Amino acid sequence: MSFTIAIDGPAASGKGTVAKAVAQHFGFHHLDTGLLYRAVGKKVLARKPGGFPPEVAEKLAKALTPKDLADGGLRAPDISKAASQVAAIPGVRAALISFQKTFAKQEPGAVLDGRDIGTVICPGAAVKLFITARPDVRAKRRFQELRKTDTTLTFETVLADIQDRDTRDRARSTAPLAQADDAVLIDTSDLDIQASIVAAVAVVERVYSAR
Ligand code: C5P
Repeated sequence: MSFTIAIDGPAASGKGTVAKAVAQHFGFHHLDTGLLYRAVGKKVLARKPGGFPPEVAEKLAKALTPKDLADGGLRAPDISKAASQVAAIPGVRAALISFQKTFAKQEPGAVLDGRDIGTVICPGAAVKLFITARPDVRAKRRFQELRKTDTTLTFETVLADIQDRDTRDRARSTAPLAQADDAVLIDTSDLDIQASIVAAVAVVERVYSAR
């Protein structure tokens, strides 16, 4: 039976880096589910920069292909915002469920990271992690990453964007960002990347070796 690992957490918590490393460590498949919403957000922006009816976003979500996820430009701040806006549309979320559930069942195992993996997509996951960090720490990390390509960005803008997105993600009625009751919390505020990975691998290893 395949082994599914659900990793959730707020923006820039380090969950993506940890998820990738955990998947590599165990030889599992990895899906960054944020890319699905980012790809829909990008398509919506390209069509209707000033707003859009939910049906348009839903239609675009249904037509998503793996090639759309490979787009290198999906991390831009305007796309982050559009992603969290389309992610609040129930029809968009519904259109993306079966792809994620099928991905999660792959052998020998799969790691999915996002906002609702442990609560909605994979409630029966073998291991659930909720990775978080203080907002100022997360904004600093994202600022350092984004500054490499956009020197006009300020720390304050990045912090405000992250807080806006977190508020929207936690407040939406369908599949909000939330820690599953049975998820293990890892706060990476005072951990570097390596220590965050070691902590996550240790939690998974305990369950994996006892299966
Ligand atoms: O994880 P990332 O920051 O790339 O996600 C972008 C946006 O996609 C999030 O702010 C959130 O609104 C949405 N998302 C979601 N559910 C997921 C993954 C991402 O709603 N499982």
